[in-house]
Parts: sequence; C-alpha cells; structure tokens
Amino acid sequence: MKFFIDSANIPMIEKFIDMGIVDGVTTNPSLLAKEGASHPIDHLKKILELVTGPVSIEVVATDYENMLKEARSIAKLGKNVVVKLPMTKDGMHALHTLSKEGIKVNVTLIFSANQALIAAKAGATYVSPFIGRLDDISFNGMDLIRDIVQIFKNYPIKTEVLVASVRNPVQVIDAAKLGAGIATLPPDVLDKMFMHPLTDIGISRFLADWKGVEQKYGNIFDSLK
Ligand code: G3P
Repeated sequence: MKFFIDSANIPMIEKFIDMGIVDGVTTNPSLLAKEGASHPIDHLKKILELVTGPVSIEVVATDYENMLKEARSIAKLGKNVVVKLPMTKDGMHALHTLSKEGIKVNVTLIFSANQALIAAKAGATYVSPFIGRLDDISFNGMDLIRDIVQIFKNYPIKTEVLVASVRNPVQVIDAAKLGAGIATLPPDVLDKMFMHPLTDIGISRFLADWKGVEQKYGNIFDSLK
C-alpha cells in the first residue's frame, strides 16, 4: 500500500519524506489556506521541490472552462503534479479533456461507488473516496472502499483507489486489508501509526539492563571504529 501525506505543511511533508514512508502528497484548498505565510503558488512550488512522487493540487473553479484553465496552469508546475477535480459534471467533462492531453487527474469528493465508476470511465488516474466524512454522517466509509475496490477489480480499470479523509490508524489497516492501493494520511494519523506502548517499554527495559555494561565499557561500538 502506498501512503500519501494529506497536508500542505512543509516541515511535516519534509519529515515524513525524509523517513521514506510517504510516496506522495495531497493538498486541498482548506489545507493550503491553513499555511498562510506565503503566496500559495510559491508554497506549492516549495512542496514540489521536496517531493518526487505525485503531488495533488486542487482547482477552485467550478465550471468547465475555468477548471480547464486552472488545471493546465497547475499541470505546468511540475511533471509529478496531479490535478484534483471535484466529482461534478463539469469536473468530469474537464477530466475527460485533460486526460486526452496526458494530464493526470485525482477526482475528489467521492462519496459513492457510482461516482467512482463515472470518474474512472472519464479517465481519472485516482479516485478519492472520503471515508471520515461518511462516518461523520453515520454512513460506513469503509463499506464504500470495499465496494470500489471490488468493482474496480471486476473490470480492467486502471484508476487507483486513494482512500481520503482518514481519521485514525485502524482505518489504514482496514483499507489495506481491502486492498486499496493508496491512503492519504494526515500527519497526526501517520504519527499514531508508529506508536505501540510495548515498543516504548521494550526500549526502556533494554536500556535499563544495559546500564551496567555501559558503565564498565562505555559505548562498546566505539571499539569498532
Ligand atoms: O484531502 C481530502 C481529505 O483527505 C480531507 O479530509 O479530514 O477534511 O475530511 P477531511
């Protein structure tokens, strides 16, 4: 399973890229608006300098012509740019035009399997089903992932399922068990995925047991230099 980081925060992106555990980045207007320090385009350029994997950048236009204009400008920002378009009729029209130009598109705000099928049909590289927002309104987000993964397997559909709106580490395991190709994860979920109390207890115990040896010999690995 690939992990993308769902953030426009440069230190966070850098931290997880340097650890080698994230394969790409997804942004959206809300995430970019939070990083108010510089012009959003300068900010996106800095993200693109850090990341070699796919970076999703969303249009804000809602009509076909302006979506196309914005998408073409976004695509020029870098080879690894993926344009994010919303799941609307204008969005699908723009997607179809852009896919013929070789521009990769991530269709966002997917809340049903039919929307995912339509986006795949129109040429999406990725579909982003928002599971947390479904859970928020008492619909099971993971059921949607199960349906989309199964439906895409039933046909030669190359569109990748990019699980979005992830709120906790259990959702990552559930999505992985279902065979979803990618999950885009907020930094706090990535942080929580590292944690296990037995790991912390184990380290403390090893260090406590080692104290006497360290006092006698110092750092034993220094003798290897
Ligand atoms: O990037 C889109 C999605 O992951 C947003 O998540 O938490 O705002 O529902 P959330």
